[in-house]
Amino acid sequence: MSIAEKMREIASQVGPEHVYRTVYDEDLHVLVPGKEDINAEILDTFSRIDFTGKSVVDLGCNFGFFTFYAARLGARQVVGVDREEGVLQGCEVLKEYFNSPVSFEAHDIYDPACTLPERTFDIAMLVEFIGKTFIVENRIAPTLGFLEKLSERELIVSVQKIYWIRKELGTTPEALRGMYTDRYVQGGSFYLLDYVRDFFAPRWRMEPISELNGEYEKPRKLLRFVRAQPETPA
Ligand SMILES: C[S@@+](CC[C@H](N)C(=O)[O-])C[C@H]1O[C@@H](n2cnc3c(N)ncnc32)[C@H](O)[C@@H]1O
Repeated sequence: MSIAEKMREIASQVGPEHVYRTVYDEDLHVLVPGKEDINAEILDTFSRIDFTGKSVVDLGCNFGFFTFYAARLGARQVVGVDREEGVLQGCEVLKEYFNSPVSFEAHDIYDPACTLPERTFDIAMLVEFIGKTFIVENRIAPTLGFLEKLSERELIVSVQKIYWIRKELGTTPEALRGMYTDRYVQGGSFYLLDYVRDFFAPRWRMEPISELNGEYEKPRKLLRFVRAQPETPA
């Protein structure tokens, strides 16, 4: 069986709802189409992260695109984590095909018994994980809280900067004001990037990897958070 046939079989077993990221071969030819593609800008932005010699955990890795890419960019050790066993089977097939040193583990990050926080990594990544339902269901804070347990040095997060509340989130500003302060719910928009930045401050300092301007933009922005230096007493 070719790699394309193997991956298509796994994708049909897990169902299209679990193929978030298009699955590619080593030359970036499509093996299985997903909901989101990779493009040159995403690759370029991601390659600005210095992975050299670092240990990395990639939460919600899906078919491991960024797990494998971090290894290709020089990471010493990369662990891709997902809760879907069928998806992880696909990751194992790809690992063999790419002959990659990464590893994959099944964890549900919302399971209170999850053992992942017993370890820390140089870099903890959460790429294209937080989306609409997290905002509407008020699950951003526990997710970011879990991520920051996994590294004492560096966090990588990607988020859409701003959401249109009615059109994109299918809710109302009044409903969101019951969960978030006015700072993040302004006019008809929800300011997710600001929420994430403020959640991590003052423990972590945000260093945007993507270029940011103040306006609405759909493509997610890649953000790095590094440990903020404690202020020295005067
Ligand atoms: C939107 S996809 C992101 C895929 C990947 N990071 C990327 O950008 O290509 C989210 C992934 O997280 C996984 N996931 C969702 N909830 C999870 C949880 N509680 N614990 C672990 N993985 C989870 C899903 O199975 C899915 O594969």
